[in-house]
Amino acid sequence: MLVHDLPTPALVIDGDVLDANLATMAAVRPGAALRPHVKAHKCTALARRQADVGHHTFTCATPREALGMAAAGLGTDLLVANEVVDARRLEALAALDGDVMVTVAIDSTATLDAAARAGLRHCVVDVDVGLPRCGCAPGEAGRLADAARARGLAVRGVMGYEGHLMMVADRAERRERVEAAMALLRAAHDDVGGDVVSAGGTGTFDLHDHTGITELQAGSYALMDTAYGTLGLPFGPALSVVGTVIAVKSGYAVADVGLKALGMDHGNPSIPGAEVWFCSDEHITFSNAAGAGAGALSVGGRVHVLPAHVDPTMALHEIAWVVRGEEVVERWTIDLRGWG
Ligand SMILES: Cc1ncc(COP(=O)(O)O)c(C=O)c1O
Repeated sequence: MLVHDLPTPALVIDGDVLDANLATMAAVRPGAALRPHVKAHKCTALARRQADVGHHTFTCATPREALGMAAAGLGTDLLVANEVVDARRLEALAALDGDVMVTVAIDSTATLDAAARAGLRHCVVDVDVGLPRCGCAPGEAGRLADAARARGLAVRGVMGYEGHLMMVADRAERRERVEAAMALLRAAHDDVGGDVVSAGGTGTFDLHDHTGITELQAGSYALMDTAYGTLGLPFGPALSVVGTVIAVKSGYAVADVGLKALGMDHGNPSIPGAEVWFCSDEHITFSNAAGAGAGALSVGGRVHVLPAHVDPTMALHEIAWVVRGEEVVERWTIDLRGWG
């Protein structure tokens, strides 16, 4: 099958670009120095590619992701880097914790209590390093670790996600602020103990040489998006949503890739060679179609729409098609979607 034969909108992964991205990251952070975040792609077939290049520990955002990874045989060491209080889901994770090592993040006595009651055996203390989301104050981490040990959990260490710094445009400023954030995490780690200091993402992947982290939680690097594309990182755009042109008018054209096929929270997607005007539910309207390839000039032609945010884009699709050139070589299920 060729790209042109796919029913659209079609989520397409350029296999060559994906391979290059995985190799580039594995060279900088080999093996367990990277704990790839599966939230970015929600696809065990892609996680298997990450395992093929040497990463056997994974980060998950939801119990559903961890359960799916374990079911796919990719559960050597899974970190749910997120707070979970749902007893039923925590019990399902605890039931795995044996052959599969499952570690959950805790940042309060309530999240510790939920994990302990469900029978979880491993945790990390999640520390607030400046992103106003989850994480305890660095000065509280030690007490929480003591409380977790008193409840019978093994405390593996700390995590602290510096998500507020991923898109800091100036690299020197980004580095400086990452180092300050990680000083908070190190101080917490001194009080907590354990072997794990987990942090980072695609935007800070190469700024952790002196921060003391033991593993990086990057996810977007594998497929990339146009927001991360602005930072000049050494990862190429592997992901696009292929659309069919359904209308060509004077000065603009319309394809069938709308906001129901695209994560839009980072802004409009891009069409190389064209200017995207706007998206509506099932449509993308774009001008200057001459640069977007011959297909964009005629009804029935094809365009590649590059998403601004990879994670929510992946979560909107059931299938990803892997292509090499114009040939479709694999069909991957986005099998970690939903919440279960
Ligand atoms: C806890 C956590 N770690 C790491 C990441 C890094 O992901 P990315 O590589 O996509 O920046 C994220 C993304 O939101 C996250 O929530």
